[in-house]
Amino acid sequence: MKLPDCIAIDGPAASGKSTVANRIAEKIGYLYFDTGVMYRAVTWMALQRDSSVEDEAAVTGLAESIPIDVQPPSVEDGRDYDVLAEGEDITWEIRLPEVDANVSVVSAYPGVRAALTVQQRRIGLQGQVVMVGRDIGTVVLPDAELKIYLDASAEERARRRYEERIERGENADFEAILENMRRRDKIDSTREVAPLRAAEDAVVIDTDNLTIEEVVADIESLIH
Ligand code: DC
Repeated sequence: MKLPDCIAIDGPAASGKSTVANRIAEKIGYLYFDTGVMYRAVTWMALQRDSSVEDEAAVTGLAESIPIDVQPPSVEDGRDYDVLAEGEDITWEIRLPEVDANVSVVSAYPGVRAALTVQQRRIGLQGQVVMVGRDIGTVVLPDAELKIYLDASAEERARRRYEERIERGENADFEAILENMRRRDKIDSTREVAPLRAAEDAVVIDTDNLTIEEVVADIESLIH
């Protein structure tokens, strides 16, 4: 039986998209591609260069000119892939709280989205890919054969992020994470270009009371 060639998985931050997509891709031998990494890489580069993330023209210039590569992991430190910007390994830097706090502003810039969407679409159209983001089913790959929208309440998603940080041995403040999550949801879903929303033909899965294994099983049955 033929599997869907492109599988689009969208949803808000910490809805479980990345973990679920990674497992599905492994099971069916597809490429796993997390598009949020690209918005995070541009945000980190902007913060590094002291160009204010509010400077839309400068940030857009970075998105248009800096090569961002996602490659198989070169280090065994819990990473699923290497993220390189201009050849520099920024895999963990893009997960820092200052990136979390600024990435929604950066990803709302139309010029940034245009530059990154072109690259994402090129990868998606090669097929055999599980692509994760906010606008994959609506904008990047509107013809994807299978579209999933993973949802969960802000409280549940904040709890997941909090636990991830604690597990990595980082400091974490639940209330601050929850507030930041709500702020990002608002920016992501109300921006003018490619706002976060389920495509009309997406299957919506509410993950509040589901384990990762249950979500993976649901999606596998949709695939087959
Ligand atoms: O999934 P994530 O938390 O790594 O995404 C980081 C940010 O990038 C998030 O604020 C929304 C944005 N993003 C986007 O706008 N479109 C995508 N396809 C992927 C991510």
